[in-house]
Amino acid sequence: MPRHAALRTLRRVERGARARETLDGIVRRESLSGLDGDLARELTQGVLRHLESLDHLLSAYVQRPLAKAHAVDRNALRLGAYQIVYLDRVPDRAAVHTAVEAAKSAGRPRAAGFVNAVLRRLAASVSEAGVAAPGPDARRAVPRGDGAFTLFAHDVLPHPVAEPVAYLAAAYAHPAWLVERFTAQHGADAARCILAAGIARPPVSLRPLPGHEDALAAALEERGVAYEREGPCLLLRGAGRVAALPGFDEGWFAVQDATTAEVVPLLAPAPGEGILELCAAPGGKTLALAHGVGEQGVVLAVDLPGPRLANLERNVKRRGLTQVAVLGADAADPEQLPRGLRGRDGDGFDAVLLDAPCSNTGVLAQRVEARRRVEGPHRIAMLAEQAHHLLLVAASRVRPGGRLLYSTCSIDSDENAEVIRAVLDDDPDLDLVAERLTLPVAGRRGGGFAALLRRDG
Ligand SMILES: C[S@@+](CC[C@H](N)C(=O)[O-])C[C@H]1O[C@@H](n2cnc3c(N)ncnc32)[C@H](O)[C@@H]1O
Repeated sequence: MPRHAALRTLRRVERGARARETLDGIVRRESLSGLDGDLARELTQGVLRHLESLDHLLSAYVQRPLAKAHAVDRNALRLGAYQIVYLDRVPDRAAVHTAVEAAKSAGRPRAAGFVNAVLRRLAASVSEAGVAAPGPDARRAVPRGDGAFTLFAHDVLPHPVAEPVAYLAAAYAHPAWLVERFTAQHGADAARCILAAGIARPPVSLRPLPGHEDALAAALEERGVAYEREGPCLLLRGAGRVAALPGFDEGWFAVQDATTAEVVPLLAPAPGEGILELCAAPGGKTLALAHGVGEQGVVLAVDLPGPRLANLERNVKRRGLTQVAVLGADAADPEQLPRGLRGRDGDGFDAVLLDAPCSNTGVLAQRVEARRRVEGPHRIAMLAEQAHHLLLVAASRVRPGGRLLYSTCSIDSDENAEVIRAVLDDDPDLDLVAERLTLPVAGRRGGGFAALLRRDG
């Protein structure tokens, strides 16, 4: 059942659907148990996180290009190969058998022999799983994303010196254009770390809410849940379901990446302030803003009308944040945004936060499909242009002396520093106060960018 759910999800993702929403729908409709749902999620995310590597490895064992195979066969092969190459806990025989069964139950009984034969040959060519170092021949060592490697009996990857981009793309499952872009913008060593972060399983990252830091740490220790600190967050590994953690019902923490959690403190929201938050859904930063301004302050949280806005509204209500008002509006259209808070002095807000829609290149481990959805440099240019426009609108709502915070979860300079340069050129009354680029760290935190500007008083 879980493999069947994963297979159906992978097929729909190929046709443009979003993995998480699609799988959640299937899990609900088919009433999968908690454990089966978790396995289906693990398999789907794992295949999408390692997709380019899986296709590269499989291509050595199929006669026709994988892209031309039937969608069920192709995705059943990926499911089986993912378990063989990247998972320790599934024996190869079970990985092959369950992939064959998934293909059969998806209406491809005739593909059983083909899927079986390809996966058995792949499994037979693995010489050692989960070794700590790549050994002398990098072409035989496939990085798994957990710091370990799967060793093959023969060369399976392109030559790292003769074909560096093809090697990195195949080993770290990123499109070649993105490998080139990371290398050009951040240098070869940093690019490799970014790629490694992109295939690492993200940790469960909890940000304790103000006043609950000690209680949460003590409760986790009492329950025997191991954690490490990363910035303002606690990282948990293998801790099971978040909803079963101590403090979940009491609202002691938010599930949030450390880099994301460090954004709002840069704005330093103060008690009583009026803050405009653009692109706010689902509200990860709204909560921190609300705590900052307190019950005497106001946060006006804006996003486009639709399901994400409804989610934001639900989150605000569930937390009982009476200082937050939610508005469905297009932030690109200044006419749809208020000029400031009625009943307060002056024009404009004390502070404006714009968390712009972006390429997600800092959080590819979490957003496993993003590396394919971005398509290429032209799409990054479009996102940068959109962010530039949104930031100009955001700037128009900052009162004299007020602050403007721009953030993205991209690590691409065109969407980050270049947008800030352009806005500083356009609006001479703005000054740059601080700018921070964080690169992702495998298994610990995502990457992102934040810049704080101030309008002259
Ligand atoms: C990076 S996400 C925001 C994440 C959110 N700030 C958080 O911390 O949970 C970007 C958001 O921008 C919203 N968005 C995109 N274009 C927009 C527009 N023209 N006006 C308002 N919101 C927009 C999307 O709906 C999406 O929710």
